[in-house]
Amino acid sequence: MTETSDPATRKAPKRRERYLSGIQSSGDLHLGNYFGAIRQHLDLQVAGESYYFLANYHALTTIHDKEQLARYTFDAAATYLALGLDPEVAILFRQSDVPEVCELTWLLLTATPMGELERAVSYKDKVQRNIAASAGLFTYPVLMAADILGYDATTVPVGKDQVQHLEMAREIARSFNHQYGEKVFVEPEARLGTAPVVPGLDGQKMSKSYGNSIPIFVSGKPLKKLVGKIVTDSKSLGDPLDPETCNVFALYSLFADDEEKAEMAERYRAGAVGYGDAKKALMEKIEETFADARARYEHLRSHPDEVEEILRAGGAKAREVCREVTDRARAACGVA
Ligand code: ADP
Ligand code: TRP
Repeated sequence: MTETSDPATRKAPKRRERYLSGIQSSGDLHLGNYFGAIRQHLDLQVAGESYYFLANYHALTTIHDKEQLARYTFDAAATYLALGLDPEVAILFRQSDVPEVCELTWLLLTATPMGELERAVSYKDKVQRNIAASAGLFTYPVLMAADILGYDATTVPVGKDQVQHLEMAREIARSFNHQYGEKVFVEPEARLGTAPVVPGLDGQKMSKSYGNSIPIFVSGKPLKKLVGKIVTDSKSLGDPLDPETCNVFALYSLFADDEEKAEMAERYRAGAVGYGDAKKALMEKIEETFADARARYEHLRSHPDEVEEILRAGGAKAREVCREVTDRARAACGVA
């Protein structure tokens, strides 16, 4: 039994920490996903109830190949597990294993002001980057609100790009609660980690859909090739370099401790390091930091049944919670 609502009053339960977050399974998970989101998720799994999922319904806004979608979804689950998600402690599931979330999306759509969606920066940004402007892409934030509100989540650990979506989820919760005069949904809060925006190869936000990402488990030659592509200015070897504006330094800083960072910054300013050396140092950090997890990842990829079993069990638990919240919403609006 879950404790998500009081059936006598259909009121949302008293607030206590429940962490929830999703990652689209639309490509290989990358350093931005790790430092912006996953690292927080792993830290929080011991701090309170945690629900983490692979957002494959959301990924349908960009991926239209069924095998690719299934593979990305599996790989994202294996990535979480390899990095240390403990399925005995946190609930890991596939978004589509909880179809109630689509039902809840419809109920929420009827309480979503058009203006909210029209103001969404990420929709405009994606369309500008040639992602097809489907109605699914436009209403994406409402499915995301259902993901969050459907589990009475209190805290949503995400990167900075998702803060506006969180504001929308709060607004939708308020609007629905107001419309039906009942506190059906909990208003969630965003939680940012220490690296809310990780730059990509081109200096823009790293993203699966922008072709500028470094996957977490890439190594050897392919890693070298990617790191080689990180955009820098054209200063020559021996010139003083500015660590503050350098993408290589920004990425290196994510891995380095304070002393290593200070030392690298000093070498930049003194002209004692070229971009080639800095890239080499970054590459070594990536290889070394994820070495153990990479081995676990390869193991899981060759044992898909282990992953599938974890997702199935997680999905069943998550579904129970979301069903109960969805029933609460149905009852509030009179479609029960
Ligand atoms: P992508 O933009 O690569 O498709 P998602 O949208 O699925 O990634 O993001 C999953 C999580 O990772 C979200 O919490 C998001 O804020 C975070 N995230 C994605 N890219 C970055 C980044 N470059 N820096 C910090 N956090 C990020
Ligand atoms: N929209 C999020 C992203 O692109 C992924 C996501 C879907 C999500 N549903 C969510 C994140 C619910 C947090 C909570 O990053």
